[in-house]
Amino acid sequence: MTDHPLLGNNYERPRRQIEREFGVPVPGDIVPPDQWTITAVKKLPPPGPLNFSELFGRTAPVMLDIGCGNARSTLASAVWRHDIDHFATDLLPVVIRYATRRANQRGLKNVRFAVVGGRELLADYIAPHSIAEIHVYHPQPFYDAKLVHKRLITPEFIALVHRSLVPGGQFILQTDNPGYWKYMQQVVPLFFEFEEHPGKWPDSPKGRTRREIIALRQGLPVFRGTGRPRSDISADDVLKRAESLPPPTFDADRKLKDLDKLEHQTDSSDRPNKRQRR
Ligand SMILES: C[S@@+](CC[C@H](N)C(=O)[O-])C[C@H]1O[C@@H](n2cnc3c(N)ncnc32)[C@H](O)[C@@H]1O
Repeated sequence: MTDHPLLGNNYERPRRQIEREFGVPVPGDIVPPDQWTITAVKKLPPPGPLNFSELFGRTAPVMLDIGCGNARSTLASAVWRHDIDHFATDLLPVVIRYATRRANQRGLKNVRFAVVGGRELLADYIAPHSIAEIHVYHPQPFYDAKLVHKRLITPEFIALVHRSLVPGGQFILQTDNPGYWKYMQQVVPLFFEFEEHPGKWPDSPKGRTRREIIALRQGLPVFRGTGRPRSDISADDVLKRAESLPPPTFDADRKLKDLDKLEHQTDSSDRPNKRQRR
């Protein structure tokens, strides 16, 4: 019971419903159902630049969260940064369903989700120099030699990020895989003014993303960096440079594979509330 200035000491303040993931609160509050929004883009149009002003009903800087998983990072950014529009994508429909449900229940108007590969998104749907921020947290390392070709961070992908960002835009990259990070350290600075970010993000010391929370709980290092597109190379040189560079064929160290298993586990606080499904 809490005192209320008019209702007195019998007033019971409505309880905030806090969702947690591995004990860490999921950003934002669940709002009454009449304020829920619809954040899923069920079907992307045929390839061509997406019209974000039409999609969001306003013109604002756009951030992309590629391989967003359950989109904890997108939710936090959307809750805290109302002036930015967020477009988050993943290859897996199931994680996008989780992400969408949470964003809907938070009544967020500045987020949309779609199922699409990261390379395809940038190559087919993003107009050159139109995006303010591109975030990629913990791209899958793929341990099996047969799957290495699926790694997201390739020279071609980095060149597409360079093409997509506005001058001065931001590329945020993060991984817990030392081999992947070493590759990123070698290749990304050829296209971006790249700075490593020592230590945790001050906005989310327990982890911006689900995978980061898991890695930190396991005591593993997390590597973070931000880049701004280099302005001293032409669009042609970006392409030529990308073609000349090796693909990411690093050894991802199979010992780290257990982390993937943990990532696919649900803890009890992680399951969405059935009554609130939409
Ligand atoms: C290790 S999880 C990380 C998820 C989230 N960013 C995080 O940090 O918790 C990698 C995610 O990337 C997605 N993914 C893998 N390949 C992708 C691709 N080519 N394009 C977009 N998403 C991809 C997977 O489905 C998975 O959800």
